[in-house]
Amino acid sequence: MCGIVGYVGYKEVGPVLLDGLKRLEYRGYDSAGIAVRTSEGKIEIRKREGKLSQLTNELNGSAPRGTLGMGHTRWATHGAPNDVNAHPHTDESGRVVVIHNGIIENYAELREELKTRGHVFQSQTDTEIFAHLVEEEFAKRGNAGAVNFIDAVRAALKLVRGAYSFVVMDARVPDLIIGARHFSPLIVGVGENENLFASDIPALLEHTRKALIIQDGEVVALTHDAVRIFTLDGESVEREPFEVTWDVTSAEKGGYPTFFTKEIFEQPAALANALRGRVDTDGVHLPELDAIDFERIERAHIVACGTSYHAGLAAKLALEQWVRVPVNVEIASEYRYASPVVDGKTLLILITQSGETADTLACFRLAKERGAQTLALTNVVGSSITRGADAVIYLRVGPEIGVVATKTYTAQVALLELVALWWAIRNGRMTNDERRITLSTFLRLPDLVEATLGAEQQAKSLAEKLTAHRSAFFFGRGFGYVAALEGALKLKEVSYLHAEAYAAGELKHGPIAMLDPEIPVIAIATRSATLDKVVSNMQEVRARRAPVIAIATEGDTFIAQHADDVIYIPSAPEHLVPILALAPLQLLSYYVAVARGCDVDQPRNLAKSVTVE
Ligand code: AGP
Repeated sequence: MCGIVGYVGYKEVGPVLLDGLKRLEYRGYDSAGIAVRTSEGKIEIRKREGKLSQLTNELNGSAPRGTLGMGHTRWATHGAPNDVNAHPHTDESGRVVVIHNGIIENYAELREELKTRGHVFQSQTDTEIFAHLVEEEFAKRGNAGAVNFIDAVRAALKLVRGAYSFVVMDARVPDLIIGARHFSPLIVGVGENENLFASDIPALLEHTRKALIIQDGEVVALTHDAVRIFTLDGESVEREPFEVTWDVTSAEKGGYPTFFTKEIFEQPAALANALRGRVDTDGVHLPELDAIDFERIERAHIVACGTSYHAGLAAKLALEQWVRVPVNVEIASEYRYASPVVDGKTLLILITQSGETADTLACFRLAKERGAQTLALTNVVGSSITRGADAVIYLRVGPEIGVVATKTYTAQVALLELVALWWAIRNGRMTNDERRITLSTFLRLPDLVEATLGAEQQAKSLAEKLTAHRSAFFFGRGFGYVAALEGALKLKEVSYLHAEAYAAGELKHGPIAMLDPEIPVIAIATRSATLDKVVSNMQEVRARRAPVIAIATEGDTFIAQHADDVIYIPSAPEHLVPILALAPLQLLSYYVAVARGCDVDQPRNLAKSVTVE
């Protein structure tokens, strides 16, 4: 998820771009850059690793001068954050300039093809290949003329697969900047003698409140006085602009009241990005795993903290079920001081969305010293955990601004289970039918999560019941226990209401002594081989007159006989419950936090990344 701004009009474009990027910095901030077409027809690029302020301070008001340009703040998905990989990118001549938000799935093959035709690359990014593709297509059309440039961009777009919003211009074509989108957002700001592109509304509001949403598969050509929309095949599209009524602050949150809520509702799109290009009906594609010698692996250790630890528990269940490899899941702060049996036959899987958690990094160093192979899952390209890990799988869900993990957790679970599926297929441990069915569940996952978001109103009304209490219990079994653990942690950290999660079978071994009408219980009672046992536990709880809220599988209406309230989630295999049960629980936590007047985006005492012991 990156921040994109494009401008054509009458204003000095440098300050327009830098101000627009500032308003989009929450979308990505590991590097930033601008490109300006000067009045002499030259392209001047200034780009720098680090936060936008680094670039702004260096420019110190001396941005290249011109009235046509583009800017980008990056959240890296390919290529570490550095000056070279920062956007914008150009072709060899420096005349075609492009910025991009998304993932080009087939960039590797396109890059090789372009190399065979003599193209030379500066960066490790997928984005750069698009500048070279446009250069080739424009050359075929005489390297001149606005119409030819638009056609060249359309032709280049037909060659790329994946998610993109591009903004592109050429030094030889004054007064024209082109945008295109496919799965990644891009909006047009319609001004007076000026027009803009932006990946999100906040960057427009300084100049205009008239906006146009670009649909997937559309190409938009902006001049200072016209907005023209085309399909990829060149047909014209007419669309009226709409009036933006949001203020800047609510625009940064996409109209949601907090980043926490925005990121809860972002989960379907985030999962689609996390899985994009990595799973299809043929199989799982995780080339990152080629760096691991699986022949040597006899066991796996998973180490993480907090929410990431919970994701690791789901991974254990999937790995042991599908791969039959023994897996230990350990809290990093315990593992590093224990005497773990770790050696060259161990695969250490490190889960850390920030890539900077001190205890997890310490386990990484310990395992490396003992010869273990290491696989890191993180959301931050270039973070500490990625330096020295044998293999790294990026979550690709864009920056998570809310301190409390939501989309990074569901992406962790999805990608860890995808690793387990990849490993099971590699080892021939699945029948063709099992493989086909399991693959299809991953392909349906974004839609399934979308469906769970429909529980918002129910979660809001149930939150009123919880708010009055001093504590809450969660319980479940198997994958449902993982969901219970993460649901309890969400409630604790965002609303400060005490909550504990138990394996349902453990209740009678002590915790049930606490239950009374003042302790609400959230039961993860989704369809599974142990559902009858969970229902028995619900009956035990209700016999103590504790109120029960159940998360159940749609269609299992009998659950309502054993609960005061039921939130239904779509029917899906058990291994998806740690994901599908969570949006309702995240929303439940949110509304309890709001009722209790908590700072949802920055809960007290918490940090987004615990870089100290
Ligand atoms: C935030 O919601 C989590 N509760 C927090 O526990 C987090 O999961 C933990 O600090 C680990 O962070 P990491 O994934 O960046 O290593």
